[in-house]
Amino acid sequence: MNTQVFSASDPKTPELAAAIVRRGGLVAIPTETVYGLGADGLNPEAVAKIFQAKGRPNDNPLILHVTGPEQLPLFCHSIPESAYRLAERFWPGPLTMVLPARDNVPRCTTAGLSTVAMRCPKTEVTRKIIALAEVPIAAPSANLSGKPSTTTAEHVLHDHNGNIDAIVDGGPCAVGVESTIVDLTEPRPRLLRPGGITPEQLLEVLGDLVIDKAVTAQIDKDAVVKAPGMKYRHYAPQEPVVIVSGSREKAAAYIRRHFVPGDRVLCFEEELSLYQDCNPLAYGREDDVQTLSAGLFAALRELDDPSIHQVYARCPVGGGVAYAVQNRLKKAAAFHIIDAEAEA
Ligand code: TXA
Ligand code: MG
Repeated sequence: MNTQVFSASDPKTPELAAAIVRRGGLVAIPTETVYGLGADGLNPEAVAKIFQAKGRPNDNPLILHVTGPEQLPLFCHSIPESAYRLAERFWPGPLTMVLPARDNVPRCTTAGLSTVAMRCPKTEVTRKIIALAEVPIAAPSANLSGKPSTTTAEHVLHDHNGNIDAIVDGGPCAVGVESTIVDLTEPRPRLLRPGGITPEQLLEVLGDLVIDKAVTAQIDKDAVVKAPGMKYRHYAPQEPVVIVSGSREKAAAYIRRHFVPGDRVLCFEEELSLYQDCNPLAYGREDDVQTLSAGLFAALRELDDPSIHQVYARCPVGGGVAYAVQNRLKKAAAFHIIDAEAEA
């Protein structure tokens, strides 16, 4: 198959991409978070192609992308009023809500669950494609399963060239980490995955929020978890990643003591001069956490190289968007963290 690349700014693109979705094909779509691998979310054969192209375990459900809150009752039932309050505040945007699924949502989309994840992406071309397709678009992140997510059309081509019908190139994704997921199917709202909408922002609207244990700790692969995707080793380059926490100076001292040729250092731009002879790669600025979230996955992809022996990574501290960056980096490191302050 020849994978076509459509430009998001070409006025013909929305209809070309929507036509692929309607006929059951696969099209990678840009969103403000990461690129998604999209197909008709109501068509089990099209959905099966997503799982096949990604090599995704079929117990890991997909997110349905819709044009807005008015579409929630088409695919969900027993919708709490809090879902509409969240949508009003954060949609279109990087927030996914888990709600009870109607019977018209195929069980392969929800991986057999009775709930479905719903999101309305901010990227305008993608909302146009959904509207023209006249179906909700199921779309996981477009990376091959287990690999760092795709934040440019080039990343998608790298993983899927010849394997999918088309890619809509909308440039690099602004947020850079996947959407925040909140489960609204229980009495208390539960954060399943941190993202561009922060826990603090959710609390403002909801007044209550449980942080699921999969957000903060490594989950055993046989465990029963709320967001099945959270238990897999994720976002990870091939070689081991270890986070070195602590002050800039103590961390640099620790890393420089242990660094051997073949290792890499993933750090903040402000730290590059400390690692001149340690082959450093900066993924953004520590004093501008948005650049870290936008740059993290491209950096992890660059480090996905069998000739690298070990990666020492620096992780931002604090809440807000930093919380999502910590979550992704800790998962890439399989929660392997060294405290340089204690080691010194
Ligand atoms: O930003 C995003 O959310 C991107 C873009 C493309 O929209 N999509 C994305 O999809 O990150 P994916 O498949 O890579 O991650 C979806 C996560 C998985 O961890 C999955 O287990 C969880 O959402 N999920 C999906 N449906 C669920 C459900 N009904 N209940 C709980 N978790 C669910
Ligand atoms: Mg993913």
